Amino acid sequence: MGNAVKTIGVLTSGGDAPGMNAAIRAVVRTGIANGLKVKGIQRGFAGLLEEEIIDMTSIDVSDIIQLGGTILYTARCLEFKELEYQKKAAEICRKHGIDGIVVIGGDGSFNGASRLSEQGINTIGVPGTIDLDIACTEYTIGFDTAINTAMEAIDRLRDTSESHERCSIVEVMGRTAGHIALWTGIASGAEYILTTEEYHGDIQRIITKIQDRRKMGKKNHIIVNAEGVGNSNEMAKVIELATGVETRATILGHIQRGGNPTCKDRVYASAMGAKAVELLCEGASNRVVGYHNGQFQDYDIQEALAMTKGLDPYLFHITKKLTTRG
Ligand code: ADP
Ligand code: F6P
Repeated sequence: MGNAVKTIGVLTSGGDAPGMNAAIRAVVRTGIANGLKVKGIQRGFAGLLEEEIIDMTSIDVSDIIQLGGTILYTARCLEFKELEYQKKAAEICRKHGIDGIVVIGGDGSFNGASRLSEQGINTIGVPGTIDLDIACTEYTIGFDTAINTAMEAIDRLRDTSESHERCSIVEVMGRTAGHIALWTGIASGAEYILTTEEYHGDIQRIITKIQDRRKMGKKNHIIVNAEGVGNSNEMAKVIELATGVETRATILGHIQRGGNPTCKDRVYASAMGAKAVELLCEGASNRVVGYHNGQFQDYDIQEALAMTKGLDPYLFHITKKLTTRG
């Protein structure tokens, strides 16, 4: 354990996620409750390098817990992968009296936090990404809101697909991970869920199943396609040509990143933000907060980044019976 902190910073980095504001609010209020000064760093590591640093008080985080997005903005900063910029950032922290930083973001941002820790600034990561693709934690901030947004969109698409007796391919986010596709596919009763983890291009199997279900009287067909598989527009053309069923592709895109965070996202984000500050107060550094077996726990960042995880095995298992995996 290093030295306890007196002034901490908080930043959001990488793709934004609903619930990040709840985490920011928890960091600010827990810090103040522990007698710390708290500074907001705007626009992630890019803003840190530009000294976009603002003092934050309890009132600055009033009425934000329900807001999507991040009041501190976010940005990507490729320069931060270089040692000279990591050193510059540490100097800026010391210039502003910042001796600890909470980094709210995904695995890329945790790499940045780890580099900053190597420069002597205590850092704690909080998993903020809709992708759920951080192996050390069963939960990432924004995932619950994103899957509910996508599920509601797919329900709407099923209405119009039924009216027109069409097939709808719905592409969801998740970068290379299929967690959003798996959860929304099951929740929306999709007939087909395609994820990078298990779909290897056997489109004929999907075509045959659509033809069979048509003969059984099925009027609409929903395919949830993870963006890591992608190619939804091309897939729609192939399916329509082969089956004669009008097929449309919808790329849900960034609507999955917005919206008022769900209760779960607000509560988990608040707990993770508070936990991060408590770790800084204990003098911890280079750690990331996770949720595992019903507990908020912390892990060494490098160990966390070395962990791997696939799709939830039982959810994946039930799709064999509840739906058709591509
Ligand atoms: P996410 O945190 O959502 O995974 P990115 O992968 O885009 O998003 O990473 C966000 C930011 O974290 C990058 O723009 C960069 O500033 C920083 N970062 C990512 N990877 C590294 C790295 N290996 N070393 C230092 N900084 C990094
Ligand atoms: O990591 C979150 C995420 O929404 C991914 O699911 C998606 O592939 C990516 O960010 C999109 O990045 P950008 O917002 O830079 O287009």
